[in-house]
Amino acid sequence: MTTYEEDYARSINDPEGFWGTAAEGITWYKKWDRVLDNENSPFTKWFPGAELNTCYNCLDRHVEAGRGAQDALIYDSPMTGKVEKFTFEELTNSVARFAGGLQNLGITKGDRVIIYMPMVPEAAIAMLACARIGAVHSVVFGGFAATELATRIDDAKPVAMIAGSCGLEPGRIVEYKPLLDEAIEIASHKPKHCIVLQRPEATAKMIDGRDVDWQELDAAEPADCVPVAATDPLYVLYTSGTTGVPKGVVRDNGGHAVALKWSMKNVYNVDPGDVFWAASDVGWVVGHSYIVYAPLLHGATTILFEGKPVGTPDAGTFWRVIQDHKVSVLFTAPTAFRAIKQQDPAGKLIADYDISHFKTLFLAGERADSDTIVWAQDTLKVPVLDHWWQTETGWPMGANCAGYGMKPVKLGSPTHAVAGYDIRIIDEEDPSIEMPKGKIGVIAVKLPLPPGSLSTLWENDEGFLKSYMEEIPGYYKTGDAGYIDEDDYLFIMARTDDIINVAGHRLSTGGMEEVLAGHKDVAECAVLGAKDALKGQTPLGFVVLNAGVDRPDTDIVKELVLLVREKIGPVAAFKEAAVVKRLPKTRSGKILRGVVRKIADGEPYKAPATIDDPVILDEITEALASIGYPKK
Ligand code: COA
Ligand code: AMP
Repeated sequence: MTTYEEDYARSINDPEGFWGTAAEGITWYKKWDRVLDNENSPFTKWFPGAELNTCYNCLDRHVEAGRGAQDALIYDSPMTGKVEKFTFEELTNSVARFAGGLQNLGITKGDRVIIYMPMVPEAAIAMLACARIGAVHSVVFGGFAATELATRIDDAKPVAMIAGSCGLEPGRIVEYKPLLDEAIEIASHKPKHCIVLQRPEATAKMIDGRDVDWQELDAAEPADCVPVAATDPLYVLYTSGTTGVPKGVVRDNGGHAVALKWSMKNVYNVDPGDVFWAASDVGWVVGHSYIVYAPLLHGATTILFEGKPVGTPDAGTFWRVIQDHKVSVLFTAPTAFRAIKQQDPAGKLIADYDISHFKTLFLAGERADSDTIVWAQDTLKVPVLDHWWQTETGWPMGANCAGYGMKPVKLGSPTHAVAGYDIRIIDEEDPSIEMPKGKIGVIAVKLPLPPGSLSTLWENDEGFLKSYMEEIPGYYKTGDAGYIDEDDYLFIMARTDDIINVAGHRLSTGGMEEVLAGHKDVAECAVLGAKDALKGQTPLGFVVLNAGVDRPDTDIVKELVLLVREKIGPVAAFKEAAVVKRLPKTRSGKILRGVVRKIADGEPYKAPATIDDPVILDEITEALASIGYPKK
């Protein structure tokens, strides 16, 4: 057994040796010519020349190895009252049939398929079926509106869409099909087919000649796994960038399978046969990596949960799921635990459940505040481990790698860099300078990125270089700022761009500003993330109205809230805006976002020497007070 330190050093000094060994955890049709081809850096290729099938590695091979009768996926839905279990054999058969149905529609290797589904097992079946036939899926989160879906349709140019008739949110049914139809109407690209899963809660109207019922595909002859190159794309996942235009992160097949399989034991300390639960959504990277691919690649059982941590029915739901399905490791966002803590501060509900088999809680997606970690530790009486990663990396960059034996927890730190990630702290002003221990800078990863990280942006190599690779030559820019302490513990402090994390959901304030600026009465605007006791951050708008607008501010704000909901979706959680006379700027015209954020959060601030007119800060303070900021 090697130590974390030994493995980490080898992964950096001998990446070919390290990942070549890890690749033995995957079944290949054809072995690689080389483990790593970095000649065209940063367009790194892992395992060029190799062939595999990701779906085969997730399903068929476990059946062949005698795991057919083990549960592969457990669907637990307090929203519908249903629990459904699929063994590896059942899931393999369902996926193979649906893959056959996709092939019957003419869908083939390299074709893109957009999946717009709620948290039902069919979402995972659709993803795995695409992987089985070499089609490239792109899952879009159900909380996004039609316009956001349309942007993704135009970028990915899918031949088909797979959608559920509806999603279920507490107290309301979200009909997906009208949103899907509207998105296709708005988009210039028109997918040939829409495959619709009719859920009993809402029946979708079908369009003749285009729409096909899920059941028709499910009745097809099963399809075999199609070998693909290790470097072929498995999926494209759109994530927020610094503008309203989302970035299509491309994940390959080979490196992804190797890294995710490796992470299950080494990061999460999960063994084949264990039950692993990532309480997220398939629309996010956590859902891709740790609801669908990694647990199945590893032969573990995964939980697909359709519900909320509170209110479905109460703050004991998570404990009930852990008990009922013998979950050994849970991974969720700190927001989920803040929500539970808010409803059940004394953690009383846990006493009603037997969770004695539960081993570890992992948190990621946003900064984990110390109060939440300590509360979770006290309530669960197991280690609570923060870890850090991004859609782009696909798996953790910073973690307390439990598979090696845990390191002491330092509150506020995701612990150490994970194997393969050579993390450096770079001076914000001068990218050639590395910051000393304990000093904050921009967090970058020395190239090459390890397997599983993004290979490029979908049909946008230039955007890939510009967004991540150009600013700090030879490094990947994470977009986060932070420091490394004397004990090599990492601390993630803030984003360096306009991205905010709302309830663990990554959103672009730039995208929201584009929407606000589109309102007829708005002359100028800014959106920033204000502190929120539950969601970590929530977006807060500032708008300057056009001269002569004399309608009540409250009416205009209501319209703006609706507009963001309509254009980006409810997930943006944009609910508040202050109407101000002017925005505080520097003399060169840059909005002083940091100062405004401090005023909104009730923190002490100093007007910078470069401010155009300090009086504006008093106006901002007054406008914020009128809408209840800073919050108590
Ligand atoms: N489809 C349609 N609408 C959705 C949706 C979906 N899949 N997911 C969320 N929404 C809606 C919500 O209903 C809500 O609508 P509302 O404004 O009408 O109330 C809105 O989008 C904002 O959602 P959210 O920010 O998630 O707030 P919430 O009050 O519904 O739930 C939490 C808050 C904390 C319970 C929830 O965010 C949560 O469980 N988060 C942690 C786990 C997680 O998913 N992390 C993500 C990555 S690890
Ligand atoms: P996403 O791509 O949606 O996974 O969001 C990635 C971003 O979330 C990161 O760049 C960070 O800003 C933030 N993030 C994720 N995990 C953590 C963490 N453990 N601590 C602090 N921030 C985090």
